[in-house]
Amino acid sequence: METTESVHGAFDLTGRVAVVTGAGGGIGRTTAEVLAAAGAFVVCADINLSGTEETAEGILGAGGAAEPAQVDVAARGALSELVARTVGMHGALHIMCNVAGIMIDSSIIDLDPDEFDRILSVNLKGVLYGCQAAGRVMVEHGAGSIINMASAAVLTPAPGVGAYAICKAGVAQLTQSMAVEVGRHGVRVNTVAPGYVPTNMTARYYTRPDGTIDEEAKAAVLTPMAKFTPLRRVGRTSDIGYCVLYLASDASSFVTGQLLSPNGGVAMHY
Ligand SMILES: NC(=O)c1ccc[n+]([C@@H]2O[C@H](COP(=O)([O-])OP(=O)(O)OC[C@H]3O[C@@H](n4cnc5c(N)ncnc54)[C@H](O)[C@@H]3O)[C@@H](O)[C@H]2O)c1
Repeated sequence: METTESVHGAFDLTGRVAVVTGAGGGIGRTTAEVLAAAGAFVVCADINLSGTEETAEGILGAGGAAEPAQVDVAARGALSELVARTVGMHGALHIMCNVAGIMIDSSIIDLDPDEFDRILSVNLKGVLYGCQAAGRVMVEHGAGSIINMASAAVLTPAPGVGAYAICKAGVAQLTQSMAVEVGRHGVRVNTVAPGYVPTNMTARYYTRPDGTIDEEAKAAVLTPMAKFTPLRRVGRTSDIGYCVLYLASDASSFVTGQLLSPNGGVAMHY
């Protein structure tokens, strides 16, 4: 029989080491906080050093364990170095969360090839490099959980964000391909595909050129977004962090190659 203790134990990450990319803000920061609150030591990795430092300080201040790391996920070898350093200093890597991402706005017809290269480098190759770096050490160790961040854009194409959706669809396929390769070594690989969550990435729709928020424009974006969502609200970064916690923990030990969709019901799939 399952008990309170065994259920808590299934979600407990005490003694686990996690790397979270994109941890300098938004969904990555909250994911790092959630994993740390569940007991993990979290390496908060981001290209934005002050952002990761803030995240790690916040975790330490709340009684958790974390350290910041500056990394460009698009730079070849950077994530391998980070993973090697993490394993060298902390003995293992149990959880890898590939959250870092960028957005570009363009129709497919007008998509600039350089911009496409840029978004592919961060959103798809960056995730590939993270999967490879973590996968190598996890396969050797015989256990591990990799969580890749995709988007509801994979399920529901929208105009103007095709390049982003292409990358995220690639992430979902990368997850499945890797899952069938590494499953026999005890390594799980899953994707989280969030719906709309207000963060710096999505704030571009209502941020003025001077960086301040246009509250009227914000309401004009968020109100209809919530209205057309079956759960009648937009997402919170914690909605995504808790999905990552589930996939990182032993509670999901029979789950691999899956796409989990915290999106309020805006897109559904079988
Ligand atoms: N916010 C949403 O509605 C939403 C929806 C679906 C998916 N997502 C995905 O969630 C992830 C997090 O997005 P967010 O909304 O928190 O955005 P965000 O802009 O707040 O956070 C993204 C983080 O990634 C970091 N980053 C960017 N390029 C990097 C690089 N080359 N190397 C290392 N770090 C880099 C940024 O510095 C930033 O801290 C992204 O993959 C995004 O595509 C977001």
